[in-house]
Amino acid sequence: MTPDIRTIGVVGAGNMGNGIAQVCALAGYTVVIYDIDAAKVASARATIETSLGRQVRRGTVSADQAVAAVAKVHPTGTITHLSPCELVIESVSEDEEAKRAVYAALQPVLRPSAILATDTSSISVTRLASATERPAQFVGMHFMNPVPMMELVEVIPGVATAPHVTASIEAVARRLGKTPVVAQDFPAFMVNRILAPMINEAIYVLYEGVATADRIDAALELGAHHPMGPLKLADFIGLDIVLSIMRVLHEGLADQKYRPCPLLIRYVEAGWLGRKSGRGFYDYAFDPPKPTR
Ligand SMILES: NC(=O)c1ccc[n+]([C@@H]2O[C@H](COP(=O)([O-])OP(=O)(O)OC[C@H]3O[C@@H](n4cnc5c(N)ncnc54)[C@H](O)[C@@H]3O)[C@@H](O)[C@H]2O)c1
Repeated sequence: MTPDIRTIGVVGAGNMGNGIAQVCALAGYTVVIYDIDAAKVASARATIETSLGRQVRRGTVSADQAVAAVAKVHPTGTITHLSPCELVIESVSEDEEAKRAVYAALQPVLRPSAILATDTSSISVTRLASATERPAQFVGMHFMNPVPMMELVEVIPGVATAPHVTASIEAVARRLGKTPVVAQDFPAFMVNRILAPMINEAIYVLYEGVATADRIDAALELGAHHPMGPLKLADFIGLDIVLSIMRVLHEGLADQKYRPCPLLIRYVEAGWLGRKSGRGFYDYAFDPPKPTR
């Protein structure tokens, strides 16, 4: 365990926050997970238990480790319960106002030495840091979805982040069994900057009628050894999320090469968001899912 970090706070008990709490508890940290929504607080421990159960069945975690991890997770609806934390990882909805409100509420709660990290996928870490009273102790800690499965953590220092803070977060990521990779604070950082335009290009290929969705996916799976073709991956991530990343790139880098494909915009307008809405580039009412184009 990193010597000076023993208790980790997680703000937001959503999809990512629960996963982050799970991997921190498995690594031996005491975890306090806070959410504004009482229902999320009430379900956090059971969600983590279910996910750990899957890891036990897969043989990646022992039953004893799972029991010990669950005992280390303390869900709460009271923000002051985060006061013992040496590190707080904010993982609330991708909305700058919501994140700023969390930082303001945390200010009187956090100890002066505590590090505040954000799991944002696309908002400037430097800009978020400037909304806090501790920009030198503020850093991006971008986990990948699903958190228990994915090996990478992107670590994003803002302009004001102190080097020892970046180093501490890299050490925590290693302790979680992840590999940290440091990326500078430019739009969409590194993984999404490369991945989202690839997916967007696959949507253009579909839009122009070069091939059907299943052929595009088969081509990338067989021809480039991608474990999941780009359109299946888009459905998995959520088409609204892919569109918002493309918009961040288009606006932030002002380059036409990041123009979101009109078909992507149309699908999002239709509410075809991928797996979570039952339909995107595939229709999930069918088994196996049927291409929609
Ligand atoms: N989903 C992904 O694939 C993914 C991947 C990497 C990073 N992220 C980032 O992780 C963050 C969380 O995403 P998610 O997918 O878990 O979202 P989610 O919608 O599943 O969860 C967000 C949670 O934040 C809570 N919340 C909102 N406002 C709050 C407040 N003021 N105080 C406390 N809790 C509050 C909500 O109640 C909800 O439980 C976002 O910044 C997102 O960009 C997401």
